[in-house]
Amino acid sequence: MGGFILLKAVKVPRERAEEVRKLVEKLGIKDKNRLIISSGKYVEIPILDGSENILKEFEIVEQKEPIFARKKKIRDYLVEICPEKVEKIRSYKIVGDIILVKIPEELESLKKEIGRALLEIHKNCKAVWLDRGKESMLRRPKLELIAGSGSETIHRENGCLFKLDVTKVMFSAGNKAERMRIARQVSDDEIVVDMFAGIGYFSIPIAVHSKAEKIYAIELNFESYRYLLENIRLNSVKKVVPILGDSMYLTPEGVADRVVMGHIYCQDFLPIAVRALNKEGIIHYHEAVAEAAFFRPIERIRKVCTKMNKKFEILVFKKVKSYSPGVSHVVVDFRVFS
Ligand SMILES: C[S@@+](CC[C@H](N)C(=O)[O-])C[C@H]1O[C@@H](n2cnc3c(N)ncnc32)[C@H](O)[C@@H]1O
Repeated sequence: MGGFILLKAVKVPRERAEEVRKLVEKLGIKDKNRLIISSGKYVEIPILDGSENILKEFEIVEQKEPIFARKKKIRDYLVEICPEKVEKIRSYKIVGDIILVKIPEELESLKKEIGRALLEIHKNCKAVWLDRGKESMLRRPKLELIAGSGSETIHRENGCLFKLDVTKVMFSAGNKAERMRIARQVSDDEIVVDMFAGIGYFSIPIAVHSKAEKIYAIELNFESYRYLLENIRLNSVKKVVPILGDSMYLTPEGVADRVVMGHIYCQDFLPIAVRALNKEGIIHYHEAVAEAAFFRPIERIRKVCTKMNKKFEILVFKKVKSYSPGVSHVVVDFRVFS
């Protein structure tokens, strides 16, 4: 029989089924690819091949007619637990091996079931957190654990590693393309200032994918700063200079070829960004705007440059992603010169 995987199961009387199911799950030896089968007074709980030695006191059988679990999608689970509201579950995202899910208020009573369903589907994930948005300028996540355990993870993206604790710092999957778009624009030997560095969302991809000379990465939140330091080490990027503190006061002046303003509420920092440039250079300015005020970012840039007696040229003005109903996250790339 060498080379064959045997489809073994623990056969237990129906009344002991729940107790033994919990035991094999706790031991991590339940074969999740097969379903539990009940036949008459007995129940067969599928176990992983080779694990039967741990369960010597139980009867082990080889299943002749196993039932394999169909690979379910979240929709299938939700149809079972809340058929009338299945469309109301908003999307979820995976950061490293952690799932973040948004659940409308009216479905919160089902949050544990939804959490368990997501872990069933994504077997390589360890925890599911209910995502209630971000708070304050620090963009701290508001999360609640609904299944599994653990909050620290390493997320891989665009050839970079981002270590983070999802309960302490945000990670916006929707900015993936934007992070790479900016990294690709950086020319050799540039000096870059990243005014809202976080855990290195922009600084790390720039350091990994460009030949920038130096990247000043300024971050106010100590938790994010701690992960920024870890990510500099994890990605072995020595040209990132981490600075802990407020970019309103700590942004170096007259040094940069490029400034990244990766915060959606950073309009008050525009003059600081202009001052960071070495006579001229490019600024990437992010903002969350309502559709009715779509051109507001351009107007802000015009006002600041005019006041500072600088000329400017808009290079790119585009939507990064939808932020909330009727509100978009946009980016403006503009060149400043005298
Ligand atoms: C969360 S990031 C934005 C996300 C990023 N654009 C991305 O690609 O996902 C914004 C960061 O700016 C930091 N921050 C807020 N105000 C700041 C300030 N005055 N100086 C420096 N960092 C600041 C926050 O702590 C946060 O880590």
